[in-house]
Amino acid sequence: MREIMPILIVAGIIGVFAVGFLMVFLLEKNKKESMGFERNMADREIIRRLLAYAKPYRGQFALVLLVMLLSIGYDLISPLLVGRIEEMVKDTFALSRLYAMVAVYAGILLVSLVCTYVQAMVLQKTGQKILSAIRMDTFTHIEQLSHEQLTHLPVGKLVTRVTNDPNAISYMFTNILVTLVKNVMVIFGVLGAMLSLNLSLTLMVLCFVPFVVLFTVIFRKFSRKVHRQVNDATTDLNTYLSENLSGIKITQIFNREDKKMADFLEKSKKLKRAKQARMLVFGIFRPMVYMLYISSVMCLLYMGGRASIEGQTYFGQALTSGVIVTFYMYISKFFNPIQTLAEQFDMLQRSFASAEKIFTILDIVPDVVDSPDAIELENIRGEIEFRDVWFSYKPDEWVLKGVSFHVEPRQTVAFVGATGSGKTTILSLICRNYNIQKGQILIDGIDIQKIKIASLRRHFGQMLQDVFLFSGDIRGNILLRSEGISDEAVMEACRYVNADKFINRLDKGLDEPVRERGNNFSAGQRQLLSFARTIIHKPSVIILDEATANIDTETELLIQDSLEKIRNIGTMLIVAHRLSTIQHADNIIVLSDGKIMEQGDHQTLLHQHGMYYQLYTLQFSKEQMRAARA
Ligand SMILES: Nc1ncnc2c1ncn2[C@@H]1O[C@H](COP(=O)(O)OP(=O)(O)O)[C@@H](O)[C@H]1O
Ligand SMILES: [Mg+2]
Repeated sequence: MREIMPILIVAGIIGVFAVGFLMVFLLEKNKKESMGFERNMADREIIRRLLAYAKPYRGQFALVLLVMLLSIGYDLISPLLVGRIEEMVKDTFALSRLYAMVAVYAGILLVSLVCTYVQAMVLQKTGQKILSAIRMDTFTHIEQLSHEQLTHLPVGKLVTRVTNDPNAISYMFTNILVTLVKNVMVIFGVLGAMLSLNLSLTLMVLCFVPFVVLFTVIFRKFSRKVHRQVNDATTDLNTYLSENLSGIKITQIFNREDKKMADFLEKSKKLKRAKQARMLVFGIFRPMVYMLYISSVMCLLYMGGRASIEGQTYFGQALTSGVIVTFYMYISKFFNPIQTLAEQFDMLQRSFASAEKIFTILDIVPDVVDSPDAIELENIRGEIEFRDVWFSYKPDEWVLKGVSFHVEPRQTVAFVGATGSGKTTILSLICRNYNIQKGQILIDGIDIQKIKIASLRRHFGQMLQDVFLFSGDIRGNILLRSEGISDEAVMEACRYVNADKFINRLDKGLDEPVRERGNNFSAGQRQLLSFARTIIHKPSVIILDEATANIDTETELLIQDSLEKIRNIGTMLIVAHRLSTIQHADNIIVLSDGKIMEQGDHQTLLHQHGMYYQLYTLQFSKEQMRAARA
């Protein structure tokens, strides 16, 4: 009885912990086990598609596997060697043989180090290549989506799809997968080596395995929970931060700093608590597994001690000091991988989730694409025709209801109507930003569905309602990366649209930096820059949407003047806020609720005393009143 007392004590302690954890585990509310994301794709499908990315690097992965086998060899052989050295030191102590053994050991160690290095380098390189392939695929795919499809994908989400998610996948290739394979091989390798060496010691070690597994299962449950809490809190904080940094000026104007600070503090505290909880969970688990490891070492020493002191044998096998040393090393090599296996499976699941999110984006079929028989348009005259065009953004909510009109080459046509009457929609349909549901849109008599999209858009200069400037410099924002255009030509375009004066006043001229969204320029200046951008390619059709909105009178005069000049470039379609801007248009189309109410030139429409007449007199009298007051 006395002999097995120590073993019983160890078993007792472990048992108490095990029962305790088990109770906590069972008491913990069994909430719906989800990892914070839903999965729709089958694992097999995901693996198949991921492998497609790894396929070009088969050679590299084979090399890694080979190198890994070598380094596992070190893990298995080194304890045996140390055991041999230990026995040698005890017996006939020949220094030369010891040197030889140490040299062998150093040799294996060196090979293992080289292997680890090669493995890491090859994996990192390959991982980066796979990463950039996935990132490129995702980005190019997003670029092909239509305006309609992009409206449904929040920008923040897309950013994550192109940056974080490919990272998770590359991490899987470079790290998780390899360690997973390696750990499984090490576990079985060490087990085999131990079995071949000594049965009783192996059985002793195996007694601890169920406890490691039990602790790990319990740990997984809690670690998932705290991981999710940390993730949620981080996302929450980031979302809050990005939104409020964008709107920080509003916060300052409305004196809401304190309130926002308090909100931020609250979210920050939540994150802190989540991270502390995570530390606690890990802080309990790691020492627990360490305790098991130490206990097994103690059992080993106990059994080994009795064997050498009392000559005790187990299953008829004697225990030499070499075997004990070897086992001592094997035990630690055995416990480590078991412990990390669970974490790695979780990480693998997480990478799969990232992969699925990317594949979901890649699976969106772009709905505005070239038809197979689409033709290339070399030059166009600029004739535009709408034939009974029906269009809706959402099913059954018609935004355009049978719109028909005809624009001769080099004509200027203006669209007028209340906000929401469909002006912007008409303009964006001409460039095929969306597909129409019924009717036909023709350019030079050719249905735009039959024209290659890139070739169609090349002939248009489109100025959107919201001017968007990219960060960079002025030149880059006018050219938008088209090449072979000299600074001379850029400046000429600027002169044409009256943007040259303010550009010349800037310190660096065309090199003047443009900050995010161009917020270091006034609205009028941004508008002039986008005029220059629109005409630099000498388009055959110019489309201007509310070009004169939100600007001061001085800039408006500049814009008026440049509009007169731009008219001479080609066909011009214009939506103008102020009716005075469009008096000289060849045709004015009056829209209401997606239908054309009347059309004709300024004089004709005034004589008709219809909608245009009302709009015009309303605006005219307002302006007169304003002038009288001033
Ligand atoms: N991307 C969109 N998705 C859904 N509905 C839209 C979208 N863009 C515009 N609409 C709707 O279409 C109608 C016409 O909009 P729009 O062409 O922008 O009008 P306008 O330029 O004349 O002010 C409006 O009722 C608007 O709510
Ligand atoms: Mg509009």
